[in-house]
Amino acid sequence: MASLKIINANIYTPVGHKAAKGAKMGELLHIPDGEVCIVDGIIEYVGPARDGNCSDCEVIDAKGRAVLPGFIDSHTHLVFGGYRPDEFMWRMRGDSYMSIMERGGGIVNTMKATRQASEQELIDKAKWYIDRMSEMGVTTVEGKSGYGLDCEAELKQLRVMAAINADPDRKVDIATTYLGGHALPPEYADHEAYIDFMINEMLPKVKGLADNCDIFCEKGVFTIEQSRRMLKAAAEAGFGVKIHADEIVTTGGAELAAELGALSADHLLHISDQGIKDLAASNTVATLLPLTAFTLREPFAPGRRMIDEGCAVALATDLNPGSCCSGSIPLTFALACIYMNMSVEEAITALTLNAAAALGRADSIGTLEAGKLGDVVILDSDNISMLPYYTGMNSVAITIKRGKVASSNF
Ligand code: NIG
Ligand code: FE
Repeated sequence: MASLKIINANIYTPVGHKAAKGAKMGELLHIPDGEVCIVDGIIEYVGPARDGNCSDCEVIDAKGRAVLPGFIDSHTHLVFGGYRPDEFMWRMRGDSYMSIMERGGGIVNTMKATRQASEQELIDKAKWYIDRMSEMGVTTVEGKSGYGLDCEAELKQLRVMAAINADPDRKVDIATTYLGGHALPPEYADHEAYIDFMINEMLPKVKGLADNCDIFCEKGVFTIEQSRRMLKAAAEAGFGVKIHADEIVTTGGAELAAELGALSADHLLHISDQGIKDLAASNTVATLLPLTAFTLREPFAPGRRMIDEGCAVALATDLNPGSCCSGSIPLTFALACIYMNMSVEEAITALTLNAAAALGRADSIGTLEAGKLGDVVILDSDNISMLPYYTGMNSVAITIKRGKVASSNF
């Protein structure tokens, strides 16, 4: 039995097995002189310091530093070939994200590089990102397919994530998402025919490899009706569903997510008033990606208003080679607090419990509670305000994954 005990822990954690909505997002349990015990990767005890020692357990003395649940980056496109710095520079000179896509760049550009890359190359690249993420406190990351678009390359992306998940010493768990509906592949002239292919041929093949299914619902990509057809079929096949919604223009993607009982609606820069109401009345998590708004020079999603109206908000990075080539958790905290007026407590809930709910995993991760995975972050300060205040800089000292130290600069 492998045991790890964290003593002198200044614990801050949300509590529960489902997303926290509205004002509840700001309520963290605080145990100033606490202790966390992890046995065989599972949290056995969280609470005030206890007397006595266990004979054969590893002990980490947190020395009063803040101890939080591991961060969960619930929206990334982690596995991809190549990079697109030229497109970034074109955007800096005034081109829009969509105009580059219409000229044949964008997602299809990365599709070509991803189809060409070997499985091992993609594994090595994803692991490079995972090492960086772990240093920033991430213990679970979502990874989407969607840069293969044909059968073989979509399965290749999902196999890459399965290979990383098969390593018993992995630094993160990857929650896998099938995003075949990311763009129309060049082999298809017609969106409906491609959706038929995804529903009839791909969903049965990715079952078991992907936990969830996502689609890019956007003007010029997939319509609301097409997204509804795809996601309904995915839900019937047993996938949790997610949706890239209202990112570039208002389409009603948030309303569709609520209607379908989706795990999450993501982006939401241009969410409608009705969309906010519908999400607040539903169990769908509103996943906001402030790094993408920042890199696209778009207005931030109305995070403050969504929380005030009762939504469950999660935060994620959207790491991808196009719209947002960043997996920075520190900058996500900073942008959420500086530009979306979230409190640091709300931002912590958004990157832990609510992110877990956005992956359908709130029963097993997202809080420090007995029975959940031993995924823990120790900051290098006793003060959680360091997370946004130390802007874009890393304030994580130790990341613990399933009871083992995954990264440390203590
Ligand atoms: O979430 N919006 C769609 N997908 C990604 C961008 C993908 C890309 O540009 O490669 C996003 O922003
Ligand atoms: Fe995305």
